[in-house]
Amino acid sequence: MSHWSSTIGVTRYLIGDNTVQLGRSLKLLVAGASMISFGVVAGCAQQIDAQTLQQNQNSDVRALVNFGPRASGTQATEKASNYLQQQYRQAGYEVKVQTFTYPKFTDLGSNLTVDGKTIEGIALNGSQAGTPNARLVVVPNAGREADFAAVDAKGAIAIVKRGEIRFLNKAQNAVKAGAVGLVIVNTEPGNFYGTLGGDVQIPVLGLSGKSGSSLLQANQLRQANLAVNTRQGNVTGRNTIAHLPGVTQPKVILGGHYDSVVDSPGANDNASGTAAVLAIARQAAKTPLARQAWFVAFDGEEDGLHGSRAFVSQARPEFLKGLKGMLNFDMVGINDRLLVGGTESLTKLAKTTAPQVSTFGSRGGSDHAPFASAGVPVLFFYRGQDPNYHQPGDKQVDARLIDETARLGFNLASKISSQ
Ligand code: BES
Ligand code: ZN
Repeated sequence: MSHWSSTIGVTRYLIGDNTVQLGRSLKLLVAGASMISFGVVAGCAQQIDAQTLQQNQNSDVRALVNFGPRASGTQATEKASNYLQQQYRQAGYEVKVQTFTYPKFTDLGSNLTVDGKTIEGIALNGSQAGTPNARLVVVPNAGREADFAAVDAKGAIAIVKRGEIRFLNKAQNAVKAGAVGLVIVNTEPGNFYGTLGGDVQIPVLGLSGKSGSSLLQANQLRQANLAVNTRQGNVTGRNTIAHLPGVTQPKVILGGHYDSVVDSPGANDNASGTAAVLAIARQAAKTPLARQAWFVAFDGEEDGLHGSRAFVSQARPEFLKGLKGMLNFDMVGINDRLLVGGTESLTKLAKTTAPQVSTFGSRGGSDHAPFASAGVPVLFFYRGQDPNYHQPGDKQVDARLIDETARLGFNLASKISSQ
């Protein structure tokens, strides 16, 4: 059976609890088994017809998700890269791993304890680690120099609300006033992820408005323990690049990131796009497209497009000039409507090839962006908002949607590279 004529109809699965529910047509094939375990949780694995699953990219998503969250620089991501290398080799391609290194800040768990009550917070990106035990001093207004001058913050943990001036200014003012730590309280009920964006020699913690605003109101002096546990290290990412032997100048690059955010299994973001690119490569192997294309699984996307930036910055200018298109697939496993964005000539081509496709205003935040900045025409495939975006719940995709995306990607890449 050809890859594209797979009979699998509605196939949805949930990986978190290790059960897979198969839809109509496949149910018939597995003779009554509608719930199948994949054995991440020990003890209850059942086997289903392996061939049936191997014939579809669904098994690629499942394999990637089963490695666990694929944050760059982790073992799960290395395993995912190895899996992809193996799959591309099996499809007849040569595989190279392009490594790149970047600094990465990690919050290992940070909080503030006041009156015996511990409040979980989020260290500001770039904060020092530290566990000062000191007076808690409420700084009025936004924490400008004059606001710190109005209180005695020397040797204290300062607490101030978010807003009006930059996090870095608040922190620098706190250091000038002699504070040993700084807590910034959100102006909204939820938590926030802030970035200092400069060197500050004290620990800085962000608290949600819900748990921190009452502390801003308190006027009596009290002791507090600030615990900011962070690590500033280097991460080595791995772009996984596949092409046929001897293909040194492709006309198209088909790519998608295979890393995920910490704590998210990244089924839709972006095992779905990774599986779509792999499916296109398997199909292309039998066609002229294979001699015109490179297939790239980018790493380091979630930390700031590091993989695609590294790819573009390490490429020769003539290589980039020879590209007629970079097709990026990110979040293509949820929502029926397929959206494309990017360079006008390519979005037009996508709409004439597949009238069901809609265009959306360009969104910078994915791996096509560094290519677009380097003057390469880009096309970004995406299916709209996902309620589980960057959440632990991102463990479900619809294989039918990945398949539909891959078919269109294959057709467009074939057209672009033969023009
Ligand atoms: N898959 C997302 C990008 C995305 C989100 C595209 C929603 C379309 C709709 C990607 O993995 C991501 O999270 N990107 C970051 C930016 C990046 C530079 C860290 C983002 O969009 O916030
Ligand atoms: Zn993504």
